[in-house]
Amino acid sequence: HVLGLDLGTSGLKAVLLAADGTLLAEATAPLTVQRPQPGWSEQRPQDWWSALERVIARLRQDADPARWRRVRALAVAGQMHGAVTLDADGQVLRPAILWNDGRAQAQCARLEALEPRTRAITANRAMAGFTAPKLMWMAEHEPELHARVATVLLPKDWLVWRLCGALSSDCSDAAGTLWLDVAARRWSAPMLQASGLGEGALPTLHESPDVVGTLRPGWAAAWGLPPDVRVAAGAGDNAAGALGVGVVDPSDGLLSLGTSGVIFVPCGDARGNPDQGVHTFCHALPGLWHRMSVMLSAASALGWWADICGRGPAELLAELTPEPGGAAADAPLFLPYLAGERTPHADPQACGAFLGLRQGQARDVLTRAVIEGVAMGLADGLAALRAAGAAPRRLLAVGGGARSDVWLQLLADLLDLPVSRGAAAEVGPALGAARLALLAAGHPLADVLRMPATQRCFEPDAARTERLQARWARFRAAWQPLRDWQG
Ligand code: XUL
Repeated sequence: HVLGLDLGTSGLKAVLLAADGTLLAEATAPLTVQRPQPGWSEQRPQDWWSALERVIARLRQDADPARWRRVRALAVAGQMHGAVTLDADGQVLRPAILWNDGRAQAQCARLEALEPRTRAITANRAMAGFTAPKLMWMAEHEPELHARVATVLLPKDWLVWRLCGALSSDCSDAAGTLWLDVAARRWSAPMLQASGLGEGALPTLHESPDVVGTLRPGWAAAWGLPPDVRVAAGAGDNAAGALGVGVVDPSDGLLSLGTSGVIFVPCGDARGNPDQGVHTFCHALPGLWHRMSVMLSAASALGWWADICGRGPAELLAELTPEPGGAAADAPLFLPYLAGERTPHADPQACGAFLGLRQGQARDVLTRAVIEGVAMGLADGLAALRAAGAAPRRLLAVGGGARSDVWLQLLADLLDLPVSRGAAAEVGPALGAARLALLAAGHPLADVLRMPATQRCFEPDAARTERLQARWARFRAAWQPLRDWQG
């Protein structure tokens, strides 16, 4: 038996998996995001730890005690890019600056000017959510704190350090820092130098399934676990999500509808498309990479709209009839840039908008516009991925939004690809983390990689595809005028 954890943005999830891959129990604890200034996004690492302790306690309660005592390994997946800064005593210096924080835009241009090979070394363009620009922002705006930084960890790596004492990271998560030579899968001295950080500040790099330590005896005793639980290096949440549903082949894509919206396609090399904001990162298995598009507000856009309506997202989605024709041609459009955008615009300042409002449009019309706008942002992402050579033939959906039939059918129609949902779709990255733990416990890759049973597959419909793509053209045409209006 193994444990898989996923430190998400809206919650921390843990699962207990049997050695044959069966999901035995799961638990989640919610997390909130602090936004002390517009465009900022932070969380306190201590809150992650409290969530972890709550989730472990709940899982233990639900699990069969005999199985719980047989846990052999655990792994953690997590939200990528966040900067956790520690002083020489290991104390957290400030709240973690998260992946969807837009404050470090000016530092991105500076980093690329200081190291003109940035895109060649990292296979990516410098974008505000990535880690290195955040440290450069700290050097400029919080110089006293920056001077005390002894160690920089990614969010899940901070949990791993507390769990087993190892200062480690894995290639999939490290690829999102701009400190990694992504093709060579090792820290890059020129990138560290350009961002003003010493190599000593970064943890030891591993491949995701590598064992980096053993659960501290104190936690093992407190949680009733055996004394020798192995801790794997873990992975960034998208790579873990892909592993969880067996997406390791270039003809398969992962479609993740979480707080962020991601299309992820595996590949055998680190060639990228940085100009259009495509992310080229390491996969969670040695010798594999992936390209992905990332939109910053996906399920979170629906969450935002649901809060305004005073309803839950599921309730709003239930108001949508799966109309055979989809939205009317003159229905309003929604631009989903509530937290800026990465792919394809790489613009943390962009904002959201409803276009084409009229008297008589009820809530359901706007709800449909919101999920359609998110789908269109993902369609932009897929176009950028295709320009980089990706050619997925089907997408496997994961994340909270994947529960919605209406949303997945809309995506299949707009993207003109079959979209399927596995039996444990919303478990997402925690399942991938558990699979890494199985590998760390010594199970063979072929056994661990089995695809989940498809629960439902949504096939595109040619007539709807044509209508939706016409609306998508108008959505794309709205980008530049909106940016001009913003100034
Ligand atoms: C990926 C990214 C997001 C987070 C979400 O580049 O920023 O998908 O990993 O947790």
